[in-house]
Amino acid sequence: MNLISTKVCKKGDIGVHNNLFGGTMLCWVDEAACAMAAEYCYTPLMVTLKMEEVTFLAPVKVNNIVKIYGSVLAIGNSSITISLEVRRCSVYTHEEQLVLSTRVLFCRIDEDGTAIPISKHVKKRFEKEQEAAKDMK
Ligand SMILES: CC(C)(COP(=O)(O)OP(=O)(O)OC[C@H]1O[C@@H](n2cnc3c(N)ncnc32)[C@H](O)[C@@H]1OP(=O)(O)O)[C@@H](O)C(=O)NCCC(=O)NCCS
Repeated sequence: MNLISTKVCKKGDIGVHNNLFGGTMLCWVDEAACAMAAEYCYTPLMVTLKMEEVTFLAPVKVNNIVKIYGSVLAIGNSSITISLEVRRCSVYTHEEQLVLSTRVLFCRIDEDGTAIPISKHVKKRFEKEQEAAKDMK
């Protein structure tokens, strides 16, 4: 997985229990994954289709650094699945602790919002990456 986004949890991000508000975290995850999907697919016309199950495993507190890691898990005809991990990071020790992991699906659309196929060259690149990963094992 690659580091795709880094955030700092600020006072304004905190909910009633002094933890990072869950909805804010989901927004960060969606945004980071969307940017990755758009860059990978060479188009800004991607919509969030589905966010898979999310369990908040550890609280994020003010001044924690939040690191979001992502990788492309699958490419369909018009959809791309991004696998994500969010980790909180201590600035003092640089230790990282898993906060959540999930998968987010995006769909490529045209100007009218209709699903359209992901470019062939993007699919080929993904296949090559998959083959290279197999060879590494
Ligand atoms: C994304 C959207 C265009 C897909 O429309 P659709 O009529 O279902 O299109 P299709 O039937 O051609 O399916 C498109 C892809 O979505 C997948 N899909 C559709 N419904 C799905 C579901 N319930 N779960 C998982 N995947 C689904 C299909 O498998 C297909 O993927 P593939 O081509 O890689 O196999 C439409 O659902 C939409 O506009 N949703 C709202 C998006 C949005 O507003 N997001 C939030 C803001 S970004």
